[in-house]
Amino acid sequence: MLLILQYLIEQGHVFAVKMLICWRLFPLDNNSKYMANNIMYSDLPFSQACENNKASILAVLQHAFADCTKVLEIGSGTGQHAVHFAENLPHLNWQASDQAVYLPDLTERLRRAALPNLPLPLQLDVTEDALPAQQFDALFTANTLHIMPWPVVRQLFVRLNALCAAKATLCIYGPFNYNGRFTSDSNQVFDASLKSRDAAMGIRDIEAVLALAQQQGFTLKQDIAMPANNRLLWFGKQP
Ligand SMILES: C[S@@+](CC[C@H](N)C(=O)[O-])C[C@H]1O[C@@H](n2cnc3c(N)ncnc32)[C@H](O)[C@@H]1O
Repeated sequence: MLLILQYLIEQGHVFAVKMLICWRLFPLDNNSKYMANNIMYSDLPFSQACENNKASILAVLQHAFADCTKVLEIGSGTGQHAVHFAENLPHLNWQASDQAVYLPDLTERLRRAALPNLPLPLQLDVTEDALPAQQFDALFTANTLHIMPWPVVRQLFVRLNALCAAKATLCIYGPFNYNGRFTSDSNQVFDASLKSRDAAMGIRDIEAVLALAQQQGFTLKQDIAMPANNRLLWFGKQP
């Protein structure tokens, strides 16, 4: 601590020194941490939905990814999930990724988070051929299947299979329909708003998603009800 202070003083980082002393004298409670986070990332894109759902998703991932070491997240968006999960699942290396357009802001959030198990994000579009050379024993994606057109969802599952180790866990979060029906009025309204933006978007039928997963060797272990009419689909893949 003293060495850090000495280094910061030598470099002229007076504000950082004051902050460090305050932090040591007055450790932050959860509410203050939340406010500090808001200030730290206030100029970056923000998703209220991520803030609302990250705690309940984390509670499932703590079990689903308990024995995993390396996660690839597809479609990380703002990176709020990546930061929260990497912070709270320190046994995991959390590799975020997204399409090129999202990468600058996503990279900036992860850089500021400066967590040892959160490398900078990869550029990854599942419709393109280039895939990371690494293999992952855990895969995660949230709120992507209703954004990707159905042929892209098909491609996503092919890619997930190619990217994972022989034994792997896959978790998919988002809204789904059952027997061709919406599970709530709010999901129906959401689906209509997606389709008004792009006719190829929309809430997917769980039966079709499970069939795609099965074709790529993923077997459903649990279909977990989540707040706000969402689901978390937990799949396993065995050698
Ligand atoms: C609604 S956002 C969800 C972001 C984040 N996962 C969350 O829950 O807030 C949909 C994400 O899907 C990603 N996505 C859409 N098409 C994709 C593709 N072809 N390859 C990779 N990601 C894609 C978008 O870039 C975006 O980050």
